[in-house]
Amino acid sequence: MILDIINKKRLGKELSYKELDYFFNGYLNGEIADYQMSSLLMAICINGMTDEEIFSLTKIFIDSGEVLDFYDIEGIKVDKHSTGGIGDKTTLIIAPIVASLGIPVIKMSGRGLGYTGGTIDKLESIPGFRVNLKDREIERQVKDIGIAITAQTRDLVPMDKVIYALRDVTATVSSIPLIASSIMSKKIASGADKIIIDVKYGNGALLRTKEEAKELSNIMIKIGEVYGREVRTLISDMNTPLGTCIGNALEVKEAIEVLKGKEDSNNLYDLCIELATEMVSMGKEISKEDAKKLVIDSIDTGKAYKKFEELVKYQDGDLRDIVVSNKTMKIRSNKAGVVKKINALEVGKLSLSLGSGKIKKTDRIDYSVGVKLNKLVGDSVKEGDILMTLYVKKDVYDINVNNIFEID
Ligand code: URA
Repeated sequence: MILDIINKKRLGKELSYKELDYFFNGYLNGEIADYQMSSLLMAICINGMTDEEIFSLTKIFIDSGEVLDFYDIEGIKVDKHSTGGIGDKTTLIIAPIVASLGIPVIKMSGRGLGYTGGTIDKLESIPGFRVNLKDREIERQVKDIGIAITAQTRDLVPMDKVIYALRDVTATVSSIPLIASSIMSKKIASGADKIIIDVKYGNGALLRTKEEAKELSNIMIKIGEVYGREVRTLISDMNTPLGTCIGNALEVKEAIEVLKGKEDSNNLYDLCIELATEMVSMGKEISKEDAKKLVIDSIDTGKAYKKFEELVKYQDGDLRDIVVSNKTMKIRSNKAGVVKKINALEVGKLSLSLGSGKIKKTDRIDYSVGVKLNKLVGDSVKEGDILMTLYVKKDVYDINVNNIFEID
């Protein structure tokens, strides 16, 4: 049976719900070995899946754990997810904006993966911040202050945890059917009524092309229809890092600047406004035009930042104690011109090499290190100008700035 199923998918044939259920639950229960599951995942990666197979897989994922409902919390609960990128601190900005407008936000976030950072790691750079909330705590907090950001509870889609860990080490991360069922199962199991998904493409994203991002987006909308959840998607470019900072504490500080209305003219601000607008439009069932006004107003009047402070305090964090390394290195331009591109993937690799994420599972994250971009795409540069500042623990020697900045 095990080999028949792998073979069937290897030949590009459709697997039934029963076959998928047998295989995936067999793996979760320890009856199917890593190498057999790896084989099936690779066959899925190469041959894809039909919509029917993706719906089956999503159901199998959801049914593997608890399904939350939060019926007691009044209002339309809108969730947001990103497929992951470099410098993506949008959740830290959007969630308080949306909550400050009276829409309940229950955000279950993840940790960094590969070169991409995770919201939970960023929040952990705030000393004391509790990232592991129990279901009851989430409910009480959202009733009290309208917002909670937490790591996924242990019982939520346990199938995703084991499959994701295996995908990460078998080059099967960027499979559209696998991404779709992974994301949508978690969103549906965590009780969201409506969902906005930021689907990223580019060298700093899981998917490289806009076409792939569109394909992923379409299937996630269809999964939403099956479960009666409105899903909107936004396709965004991840060839360039988002904003100016990459690295956990640095990113929290940057998010605070945006929330305080001090940073309103780059790709990070624009994307946050766009995503928050979608969420507010869905949560309040109003036009995007009206929603956008509310979103901008929430930043301009200080409401969004106040909600962020409230969130941090409720989860025991102390913003005064965020530590950014005081050892810095300035990286200068060896030519004059205009910045044409900043390679997101290379910036992600650089930040990771400084210690901002894990290269091996056993590594410890250094929340205080990272990269600040001093020049952005479109900026003019003179020879000797500072292009970026590295926040480090020890000197770094082998940086090829031309790999990161394309200046012409
Ligand atoms: N984010 C997820 O949660 N799952 C994936 O498979 C990819 C991105």
